[in-house]
Amino acid sequence: MSLAQLIRERRSIRRFNRQPVAQELVVELLQRAVRLYGADEEPRWRCIYAGTEEARRRLADSMIAKTRQSRLVKLIPNKMVESFIQKFADIPASLIVVADADPDRRRQEENYASACGTLQLLQLLGWERGLGMAWDTERLIQNELFFENVGIGASEQFVGIMHMGYFDKTPRGRGRTPAEKKWTVFRADAR
Ligand SMILES: Cc1cc2nc3c(=O)[nH]c(=O)nc-3n(C[C@H](O)[C@H](O)[C@H](O)COP(=O)(O)O)c2cc1C
Repeated sequence: MSLAQLIRERRSIRRFNRQPVAQELVVELLQRAVRLYGADEEPRWRCIYAGTEEARRRLADSMIAKTRQSRLVKLIPNKMVESFIQKFADIPASLIVVADADPDRRRQEENYASACGTLQLLQLLGWERGLGMAWDTERLIQNELFFENVGIGASEQFVGIMHMGYFDKTPRGRGRTPAEKKWTVFRADAR
């Protein structure tokens, strides 16, 4: 598959089958993604990996811990909450990525950008191997309780959770914004 085709055809996958994902494969793909990103320095971001059923359940629990505290959610039947947790616990593997925070804004942005760039490459490299991924940054999970439960420190910035697994169906792609819509020609005459 050509690189152009790979980029065009990769889709976010949100529905996974039960085939297990080998942690070794994730590590191998990450190492390749880091090399491809090609930063001069050591990555200033790190990963927290949830691969076992128990770990994914704990992760799913942490993802809704804050929401659970809300009075409204307390009215939702336990069964429904449980099936929501199970949906996430059934995802074969989840990789939490956190970047080093830095008092220097430019450095902080570099850390975040390099984590994001590497994650995009990881998605492409995974796609080549039939491994689908969905990048999760839902507002619902981004709170202090979640960060504390999964071990994200005060000097770290949450980048996202990459949910991954094999899949049976490829979803249809969404429309893309034509490049011309985001293109301004800078002219000599300021008009
Ligand atoms: C920084 C970033 C954050 C994202 N966060 C979410 C998210 O929270 N939930 C989600 O369903 N998809 C998320 N996505 C995936 C995009 O929504 C997805 O790329 C978009 O739907 C286009 O689909 P495609 O990847 O199949 O082309 C995120 C993607 C990026 C790059």
